[in-house]
Amino acid sequence: MKGIRIAVDGYSSTGKSTMARQLAAALNFRYIDTGAMYRAVTYWALEQGYFQSGSLDKAKLITSLSRLNLDFQFSESEGKPVIHVNGRAVEREIRGAEVASKVSIVAQISEVRRFLVKQQQAIAEAGSVVMDGRDIASVVMPDAELKIFMTADPKVRAQRRFAELQSKGMEMTLEEVAKNLEERDYLDTHREDSPLIQTEDALVLDNTNLGMEEQLNLALGWAKERQ
Ligand code: C5P
Repeated sequence: MKGIRIAVDGYSSTGKSTMARQLAAALNFRYIDTGAMYRAVTYWALEQGYFQSGSLDKAKLITSLSRLNLDFQFSESEGKPVIHVNGRAVEREIRGAEVASKVSIVAQISEVRRFLVKQQQAIAEAGSVVMDGRDIASVVMPDAELKIFMTADPKVRAQRRFAELQSKGMEMTLEEVAKNLEERDYLDTHREDSPLIQTEDALVLDNTNLGMEEQLNLALGWAKERQ
């Protein structure tokens, strides 16, 4: 099977990670959740105290990047690769409300993006990869063989993310979840550096009315056409 590169971009909580992970498993490709990388940098910034009364000391964060080592290791309990910050698994911490409310601010910083994009491109070089995020088709892998742009009705997305957080015992109301998604989508599509865009060569996957199996089969069909 030819090892193609698959870029999956889209709005927050469109199920990109779930679809991309299942697609990678079905094709026996590597899966990289780039959102987890931005979340991990945000977690690090919070932990180091670079956010003071809600505002971020960007210069301190940028200088500290040389001390930040990120890597993915497979977790048996999560059943997926999870991100480690300087050797520590932080999967639960990066999914919480605090990180979610700050991540799109951290993701606006060009130095942070360069730091992460370099690592993402090094992984992509080996091929046979499914990578999901916001700038994968436009910046990280502009020559990917398959580009998928995921979208869904905002109400459906908020409801899905709310159910997911509840199942993990995380406390957030449906209104808070919806507001966070709306804010992140706004910041992600309006930032200067590498905004979320739908590239001309991307195939749109709107999963408002699609089940997980249906969307996976659709994406698998597209992948097979390109192998
Ligand atoms: O995919 P996820 O929702 O976990 O991503 C969290 C945030 O990280 C996004 O809202 C966005 O601000 C940022 N991000 C990004 N570029 C990527 C992946 C994520 O800016 N490639």
